[in-house]
Amino acid sequence: MPGEGAHNASLMFVGEGPGFNEDRQGRPFVGAAGQYLNELLHSIGLKREDVFITNMVKCRPPNNRDPYPGEINACSGYLNAQIETIRPAVIVPLGRHALARWFPRDSISKVRARPRTFNGITVFPLYHPAAALHNGALRATIEADFAKLGALLKERESPGANAVSDTPDEADNSQQLSMF
Ligand code: URA
Repeated sequence: MPGEGAHNASLMFVGEGPGFNEDRQGRPFVGAAGQYLNELLHSIGLKREDVFITNMVKCRPPNNRDPYPGEINACSGYLNAQIETIRPAVIVPLGRHALARWFPRDSISKVRARPRTFNGITVFPLYHPAAALHNGALRATIEADFAKLGALLKERESPGANAVSDTPDEADNSQQLSMF
C-alpha cells in the first residue's frame, strides 16, 4: 500500500503502517484514524487531495503490531523515493515510528508541533491521530497542534502576515503517550 495524494503536494503526512481497512482498500488512513485525520485536515482548510499521505511500512504488520526495525528498513527505500519524487516542503511524521525516521532520539511528546529543518525540508511531528481515539484527553492537544501546522503553512505562503508561535504548550502527556 504505497500511499496516495497530490504528486506535487507541498505537505506530506507519514504514518506508521496500513491497518486492516487500509490493507483491504489499498489506501492509507481510511479507517477510524483516517476519518479523524480528514477532520483535522479540514480544520486547517485542507482536503486529502491537497496533500500526500503515506506510511513508514507499506505492508500491514500482522494483528496491528508495531512494525519491526527490519520492516521499517526494508520499506525505507520506497519512502525515500516518495520524498524525492514529491519533494514536499513540509513533512508531518505522525507518531513515534515516523518521528524516528527523522529524529530517532526524540520523544514525540517532547517535540510534537515543533518545526525543524532536515535536508531543506521542514519536519513538523505530530501525535498519531489514533492516539486521540485511544485517549480522548488528547484530542484538544492534537487539534491545537494542527492549528499550529495550519499557521506554519500560512506563514510559508505569506511570510510575516501571520504570527507563528513555537512555544510548546503546557500539556504534558508523555506518560500516557509513550505508546504513540
Ligand atoms: N494508521 C497508520 O499509521 N497508517 C494508516 O494508513 C492507517 C492507520
